[in-house]
Amino acid sequence: MELVFATHNPHKTIEVQEIAGAHLQIKNLKDLGCFDEIPETSDTLAGNALQKARYVYERYHVNCFADDTGLEVDALDGRPGVYSARFAGEHCSYQDNVDKLLREMQGKTNRKACFKTVVALILEGKEYLFEGRVDGVITENARGNAGFGYDPVFQPDGFDATFAELGEDVKNSISHRGRSMRKMLDFLK
Ligand code: IMP
Repeated sequence: MELVFATHNPHKTIEVQEIAGAHLQIKNLKDLGCFDEIPETSDTLAGNALQKARYVYERYHVNCFADDTGLEVDALDGRPGVYSARFAGEHCSYQDNVDKLLREMQGKTNRKACFKTVVALILEGKEYLFEGRVDGVITENARGNAGFGYDPVFQPDGFDATFAELGEDVKNSISHRGRSMRKMLDFLK
């Protein structure tokens, strides 16, 4: 079976293909020939995920899914949350976001945070939502080279290494996106 992942992010496509295994082929927007910047104008993760999946379904009429992820930091009252990609401003880099987060967290003793992902699946025109979450802490410094985004500063509970130090296999087995995608994949079985 083929499913289109409504993303331009090659890291995410690889992650999900690894979780899905060989029986499911994960295509992405590039495979569809879609290079549009899909709007994400909702103020909730579910709203953005649905908006992206509907955009693809309405134009290409293929079974598809989209995800939206936010990093919620307790000491920042849940920020950056749904605005995680643009935390340091429009068109900022992952590094800019990590730098801003570490600056805002300077001197904070409560370092608890969680990643949440909502996946919106559209299958034969019907919509389904799946949520995944992982709890952890924001580290004092960036550590590790694997992954992307906030991975170098997020240490999941039960580990003494960041996502960027743990590497893809361990990350996929416990991550927000891994959990939400496995819920979707179990539903598809
Ligand atoms: P998106 O909704 O998946 O595009 O995620 C929004 C932002 O959250 C991204 O731009 C990243 O900064 C961050 N993010 C999403 N997933 C991850 C992850 O697995 N690790 C670290 N950061 C992530």
